[in-house]
Amino acid sequence: MKRTRPVAAALVGVALLVVVGCAPDGSKADDEEKGPSPLPSHAFHPLTGADIPQLETETTSDQDAHIHVAIPQIGTEDRVNAALAGFGEQQIDGYREALDGGDAAHAFLSVTWSAIGSSATMLGLLLTGETSPGASTALSQRTVWYDAEQKQVLSLRDLVTADGLDTVEEQVVSELEDHVIGADIEGAREIVREGDPAFGFDEEGRLLVGFDAYEVAPGSEGATLIAIDAEPDALLTSAGAEARKATLSPETLEFATPPAPTPRDVDCEVKKCVALTFDDGPSAATTPRLLDILAEEDVRATFFVVGSQVQARPDLVAREVVDGHEVGSHSWSHPDLTVLSDDALRSEVSDTHQAIVDATGVEPRLFRPPYGAHNDAVDAVLREAGYAEAIWSVDTLDWQHHDPVKTAAAASQAKPGAIVLMHDIHAATIDAVPDAIRSLRDQGYEFVTVSEMVAPVEAGQVYFGTY
Ligand code: NI
Repeated sequence: MKRTRPVAAALVGVALLVVVGCAPDGSKADDEEKGPSPLPSHAFHPLTGADIPQLETETTSDQDAHIHVAIPQIGTEDRVNAALAGFGEQQIDGYREALDGGDAAHAFLSVTWSAIGSSATMLGLLLTGETSPGASTALSQRTVWYDAEQKQVLSLRDLVTADGLDTVEEQVVSELEDHVIGADIEGAREIVREGDPAFGFDEEGRLLVGFDAYEVAPGSEGATLIAIDAEPDALLTSAGAEARKATLSPETLEFATPPAPTPRDVDCEVKKCVALTFDDGPSAATTPRLLDILAEEDVRATFFVVGSQVQARPDLVAREVVDGHEVGSHSWSHPDLTVLSDDALRSEVSDTHQAIVDATGVEPRLFRPPYGAHNDAVDAVLREAGYAEAIWSVDTLDWQHHDPVKTAAAASQAKPGAIVLMHDIHAATIDAVPDAIRSLRDQGYEFVTVSEMVAPVEAGQVYFGTY
C-alpha cells in the first residue's frame, strides 16, 4: 500500500462524468426506430476549490493483474475509512473472481474517486470502479456521504424525507419504464427502499440516484443515474439540505467534536464496580480496535493518554470521549516526574492538559504519573493544576508478558472498587480485553470510569481504587 497524490490535485484532476445510455457493443442499432429514447445523461457535480484536510489517497496496485485502485482515506475517521476501503476490496474481489485465475492481458480494474460535496460538517465522495474482465466494461459507483460531526456514514434514507423517498421511488420507476427495455423495476424499488444506491446532486442541485451497470438495467445501459425533479424543501431532510449545500456552495470541512455523553450516576457503594484503565496511547495501530470492542460490549473505560501521542492523533482521543470514556493525563513524554526540575514538571502537566482540551473540548481531572512515581513535589504541582491522581490496584503486567491469557486472568482477579492497569499500545492487550470483560461481567461487575468510581473527584487526592 502506498500513499500518493495530494488532495488538491485529486479534487481538480478527477472530474468524473458518467455517460449513461450508451451501447458499447452497438447492439441497439436495430431497435432504434421503435425503441424508447435513451435515459437522459446526468453527472454528479464535481467539487472544485474546497480543501478537505486530512484527505489522502491510498493506492493499491497489482501490475500483473492490471489492478489500480485509488481510495480516499481521512485521518483517523475510522467509520468513513472502512466504508471507503470496503468499496475497493469489493471491487478487487469481484474482479479477481471474474478473472478466475485467467490471463489479465485484456482485462483491468480501475477505481478512482472524486469529491462531490464538502461543508463544515459533511463530506460527499464518489468512488467509481471500472472493470473490464473481457470485451465489455462495467461501471460501479458508490457514493459515501459522511457526517463528520456525528461520525456517521449516511444513507439515501438519511438525506430524503419519508415522502421524499416515495417521490424518488416513483420517479426512478417511471424513468426506467420510459427509457429502459427490460429494467428490473422491483429491484430498483428495493434498492431505493433498503439498498445502497449512489446519490448526490447535479450542478443544478437536483438529487441524483444511481445504479450500477447490470443492477437494474441491461449491461448495455451502463451505470444509470436518474435525476429527481422535486422542490428540495419537499424532498430533503436537514442532512439532505446540508449535503446539497455542500455540493453547490462547498466549504472547508472541519472535524468538529460532538459533545461528550454525560457522566452516569453509578452507586459503587451498592454495585460491584471495576474501572478498566488503558495507558500510554493513543496508538493508531491498536486503539481503534480497542474502541470497537468497548463499543460493542458497551463498556466505558478510562484512558491515560500521553500528550505527544494526543498531538499526533487528536481524532482518536476525541473518539474516546465521544464513545463515553474518560480521558486522563499521563504526562507529555512519559518521564519519571520525580526526577524533573519544577519547570519541566509543570510543562509536562500543562502541555498535556492543553492537548487534551484541544482534541476533546473536555478538561481532564485525573492524572496518572508514569510508573506510578510521585512525590511531594509532583503531588503539589498536580493539586495546584486541579488534578487528582489515579494509580491502580490491579497491575496486569500486560506490557511485560504480552500474553492475552495472563492479562485477562489478572484483570478478572479484580475486587469490587478495583482500578485495573492495562496499556492500549500493545496488540496482545487488546486481544485480552474481550475475555477480561466476559469474565468480569459473569462475576456481576459494572464497568465504570475512574471518576464514576471515586465520585466526586477531589483535586489533590491520590486514588488506588475504593477498597
Ligand atoms: Ni505509562
